[in-house]
Amino acid sequence: MNILVTGANGQLGSEIKLLASSFAMHNFFFTTSADLDITDAAAVATFFTAKHIQLCVNCAAYTAVDKAESEKDAAYNVNAAAAGILAKACAVNGAKLIHVSTDFVFDGNLARPLVEADVTNPLSVYGSTKLEGEKQIQQHLPSAIILRTAWVYSTFGNNFVKTILRLCKEKPQLNIIYDQIGTPTYAGDLAAAILHIASNEKHLAQQGVFHFTNEGVCSWYDFAIAVRDIAGLHTPIFPIETYQYPTPAARPKFSVLNKKLFKETFAYEIPYWRTSLEQCVKQLC
Ligand SMILES: NC(=O)c1ccc[n+]([C@@H]2O[C@H](COP(=O)([O-])OP(=O)(O)OC[C@H]3O[C@@H](n4cnc5c(N)ncnc54)[C@H](OP(=O)(O)O)[C@@H]3O)[C@@H](O)[C@H]2O)c1
Repeated sequence: MNILVTGANGQLGSEIKLLASSFAMHNFFFTTSADLDITDAAAVATFFTAKHIQLCVNCAAYTAVDKAESEKDAAYNVNAAAAGILAKACAVNGAKLIHVSTDFVFDGNLARPLVEADVTNPLSVYGSTKLEGEKQIQQHLPSAIILRTAWVYSTFGNNFVKTILRLCKEKPQLNIIYDQIGTPTYAGDLAAAILHIASNEKHLAQQGVFHFTNEGVCSWYDFAIAVRDIAGLHTPIFPIETYQYPTPAARPKFSVLNKKLFKETFAYEIPYWRTSLEQCVKQLC
């Protein structure tokens, strides 16, 4: 199968690239924004036709959550309009789309793991534009698979894990928020799950929204402590509340995703967050 992976330099795109050699039956096209700007409808249409794309895995996104509050158009163009452009290109070419979305489509006011059918109510520009992307995809390509994930980290790119490792070495102590609850996601695990779907016709025939993170629950504070401990560092880390660390974008207080639908539909076992974190931190150290 000819597979286009957009956002190939990002965390998720890089992890898919790393695993791609184990999927020799597929012909991958990995594109960065320099190779293929997904906001350029004509370029996308040409690429799909020229390369006979049969599956698009959209890992490209505007992911600067706080910056998006002051760059609404830029975030909208990539997260919403370009999602629609890719969906239309898939529809025209009879291709499948696996798109990645976010827990930030929720407001986080329900204190239980969120299912796919729960009411969305984004608190931020990033969350609103990602939700609009989901809607545009469902409008133009109902057969698409949309995977909502959360708290993504990897050995690639910039992320919370790398920031904590750096700050533990630079600062005498850290203050980390403990009243935002969710689940970390190792991008390598999400990449493996996407390739699992891509490599099975029955799975690829599924459609709709699915939730995927690692298993378990923690706060950012617990996440930071785990990173520090796995790395063998000893910097004191103290819990603080959200109001003590104001940011331009509001974030959901509780955005644990229920993954039952994903696990049952795709017959897939998801690793526990701390197990995957150990793998990643050990590579980084
Ligand atoms: N990071 C998280 O914590 C998190 C949480 C929940 C959901 N998600 C979702 O998970 C997916 C993957 O996230 P990630 O962390 O891997 O993102 P990332 O590391 O920020 O990578 C995103 C990539 O998108 C590319 N991109 C941006 N604008 C583009 C354009 N106009 N055309 C083509 N490519 C463009 C960038 O490519 P260039 O570098 O080439 O410009 C960048 O490498 C995204 O859909 C994101 O919304 C992420």
